Amino acid sequence: MEQDIQEILLTEEQIKTRIRELGEELTAQYAGKDPVIVGVLKGVVVFYADMIREIKVPCQMDFMWISSYAGTSSTGKMEVKRDISADIKGRHVLILEDIYDTGTSLDFTYRHLLAREPASLKICTLLDKPERRRPDIHLVPDYVGFTIPNAFVVGYGLDYNEHYRNLPYVGVLKPEAYEE
Ligand code: IMP
Ligand code: MG
Repeated sequence: MEQDIQEILLTEEQIKTRIRELGEELTAQYAGKDPVIVGVLKGVVVFYADMIREIKVPCQMDFMWISSYAGTSSTGKMEVKRDISADIKGRHVLILEDIYDTGTSLDFTYRHLLAREPASLKICTLLDKPERRRPDIHLVPDYVGFTIPNAFVVGYGLDYNEHYRNLPYVGVLKPEAYEE
């Protein structure tokens, strides 16, 4: 795995420090609100596990799993493979995401949850790659861990072909690793 990484973009230490900072903001934001914290599978799993422990208020964990329709990912058509289990009407909801890239996934998730009439709906994404954004998507995440350049990254939950999720840092994949 390690030999396929061209450059470490974010070290474990940098990620940890940033999550602690975000945790302070989120702890203040959600004090007394008993939020439902929705993770979007699977890429968010590592970030979710670390982030939730820095949000020091009573809260509820939930997950949804979405994917693009087979073969049509370029059209941006998404489907819910597994929905959240909580009833979020009137609740404060925070979406946790691994990366805001073209925005198709996050835009879909946001609309899907907004339709259930939560009391509030905010977004916290570990990574933001603004250069790749679809021009028709204007969602502004409320909390961003790091804004990164337009490179394909893996690790800390992010995958290439379901691999590299268990690397403890965020790294840029060598082009050879996805060309073979
Ligand atoms: P979207 O393009 O913003 O809809 O992102 C869709 C999904 O693509 C994300 O949730 C990630 O799982 C994945 N993705 C986007 N950019 C990267 C990347 O640089 N590395 C790994 N996965 C990525
Ligand atoms: Mg992925």
